[in-house]
Amino acid sequence: MHRDPVLDVRDLSIRFRGQPIDLIDTVSFSIERGKTLCLVGESGCGKSVTSLAIMGLLPKRAATVTQGAVRFDGDDLLTLPETRIEDLRGNRMAMIFQEPMTSLNPSFTVGHQVAEAVRRHKGCTPAEARDRALEMFRKVRMPAAEKRLDDYPHQMSGGMRQRVMIAMALANDPELLIADEPTTALDVTIQAQILDLMRELQDDTGAALLMITHDLGVVAEIADDVAVMYAGRIVESGPVARIFDEPQHPYTLGLMGSMPAIAGRQGRLLTIPGAVPLPASMPQGCRFASRCPFVQDACHVARPALSDMGGGQQVACRRAPLDTMVGAA
Ligand SMILES: Nc1ncnc2c1ncn2[C@@H]1O[C@H](COP(=O)(O)OP(=O)(O)O)[C@@H](O)[C@H]1O
Ligand SMILES: [Mg+2]
Repeated sequence: MHRDPVLDVRDLSIRFRGQPIDLIDTVSFSIERGKTLCLVGESGCGKSVTSLAIMGLLPKRAATVTQGAVRFDGDDLLTLPETRIEDLRGNRMAMIFQEPMTSLNPSFTVGHQVAEAVRRHKGCTPAEARDRALEMFRKVRMPAAEKRLDDYPHQMSGGMRQRVMIAMALANDPELLIADEPTTALDVTIQAQILDLMRELQDDTGAALLMITHDLGVVAEIADDVAVMYAGRIVESGPVARIFDEPQHPYTLGLMGSMPAIAGRQGRLLTIPGAVPLPASMPQGCRFASRCPFVQDACHVARPALSDMGGGQQVACRRAPLDTMVGAA
């Protein structure tokens, strides 16, 4: 059965002011209702820039969308007037960031802030909004939920603050939730609790989830599909099982190598020397070429096209499939 995706990003390219190339380059992916897509890649690969573009939150003076579409429930967000985006944001689409302290106002209680997020979009009374905030605090399993409504952000632990952010993001029943490294700043036990919570709430609400992470443990836990981003391009994508069991892009393989459990399963460990290239010195062909153990001359010349590997997997590497690469290396 074919279903329309909640979010469909098509050929999105973004250039920062004064830079010679599109940093985000022809990025495409889509997410259906109730599904989770994990966008993975090292720090600096363009994951946050991509998510900000989807939410209409790119700094307009610094960044320009040079091509593409971001369809949300059929509408292209890139062409909607700002007032329409504001109606959607925090309402039908919501976002959670890594550091909740930067998104919470230190001068208001957390209960007030969640209630205001509801009132802004739902036009209910203050009492109804507070009831909804309390309901959400219970849903995110805030201990002593009613009392916690009156806390200020600084009175809470990082884990509790992230629960507030999740309560706020989900308070208006969004169809799309974007979470940008929501557990990175938390300690491991709390990370696991927050992930479980997000998965459970997503099951309840049927929201589509775009989870941004550089942690493959998170991917294994929560993803239906994975898109691997390197230096602003999607280099590989597909169902999570395919990406873990048969990674085809040398960069994906490198990321796997950086996670011991997976490296053990694969029976070898690849490290990726070097760093993500900066926009000013972005190579012309494959952006991973300078770090790739399988590189050939032709890789430096032209951008590798995404090709279909079957089973919903796509890879942008002229040396794929990997079996022949490993044999030849
Ligand atoms: N306002 C900006 N102006 C110029 N470059 C920027 C700006 N914001 C982000 N970048 C660049 O975009 C790249 C990707 O950043 P980001 O999306 O934050 O990566 P990630 O979230 O994957 O770690 C970085 O190299 C960063 O320098
Ligand atoms: Mg980021």
